[in-house]
Amino acid sequence: EMAEKQGYEHFMLKEIHEQPKAVKEAIYGNLGMIDKIAREIANYEKIYIVAMGTSYHAALVGKYIFQRLVKKVPVVEDASEFRYEFEDLIDRDTLVIAITQSGETADTLAAIKLAKKKGAKVLSIVNVVGSMATRLSDLVLYTHAGPEIGVAATKTYTTQLTVISMLAIALAKYLNTADREYLQKIEAELYDMPKYIEAALGYENKIKNLAERLKEKRDFFYIGRGISLATALEGALKLKEISYIHAEGLSAGELKHGPLALIEEDVPVVAIAPSGKTLEKMISNIQEAKARGALIISLGDSEELRKVSDILIKMPKVDEVLSPIVYIVPLQLLAYHLSVLRGNDPDKPRNLAKSVTVE
Ligand code: G6P
Repeated sequence: EMAEKQGYEHFMLKEIHEQPKAVKEAIYGNLGMIDKIAREIANYEKIYIVAMGTSYHAALVGKYIFQRLVKKVPVVEDASEFRYEFEDLIDRDTLVIAITQSGETADTLAAIKLAKKKGAKVLSIVNVVGSMATRLSDLVLYTHAGPEIGVAATKTYTTQLTVISMLAIALAKYLNTADREYLQKIEAELYDMPKYIEAALGYENKIKNLAERLKEKRDFFYIGRGISLATALEGALKLKEISYIHAEGLSAGELKHGPLALIEEDVPVVAIAPSGKTLEKMISNIQEAKARGALIISLGDSEELRKVSDILIKMPKVDEVLSPIVYIVPLQLLAYHLSVLRGNDPDKPRNLAKSVTVE
């Protein structure tokens, strides 16, 4: 086992560090394939994206990126609820995109089976080659992340985001739904993503020190707007899964509609704040929390954040639609180091399984 960990203390840490390579494989492994699949699904207007857990957060990112680039609005639903809520709505004109790293999650497989039964087209985004999801689906895109041993998903998530982003870019090009130059710019940024992730990994010592400072905290809030809501939810999920600290991910706009009542002196609020449409609004959301004494930990690329933050993790500048791929990395590291400092085994969190094969 030590040999398999290649000098890392845990599989999770190894897998976090493998992300530049995994994302690169996801990109190069899908070149060619992606245009072919984009053409096959280009005409669908009724699109559902189904998934569970971390893959559900990739589905949420997919929704935003489809809206922005493809000008289509997919419905994102927990695979566990899909059968009960959408059975009558699925037909031959429906596209169901299932995201599952293992390809074996019972709820996701049940959603795929129902979609097939109703005549829908099913595209799965999967990591494990030959898994059940790949056998049940019409079309498959692989994430090429390699085996992931840690129960908490890391490199399978960033590669899912990479693939869904590539798919949206390919569709936007084919359907002409976004500005050519803009598409070229984000495509180039996507190819550079391994480098940006590498830069984010460079903050590990800073994050380790931060974890030391936060290790006794009992509640965390992760806030984000728009596409960054997915990052807030996923950051909070990582913390819950392996550090056993209570964490909530929420839309920053919702803060003053209730959760603000829970913000007291020194409660950590992690703000996911890349430059983009809502940065100014996000800064006022941060101020709302800061005025109640919250300890503000911001992730962003703009200097304006420094004034409103106790700690700023300065991120590489990437377009907002791709920001989830790189912004999750420091949050994975934060969850990992908090888990270790609290004496837990991040690879084998209590009560959880790598793939949940019961409904
Ligand atoms: C389990 C794992 C999670 C994973 C979820 C969905 O709960 O612990 O890490 O996100 O299943 O798994 P899937 O294989 O469908 O992506």
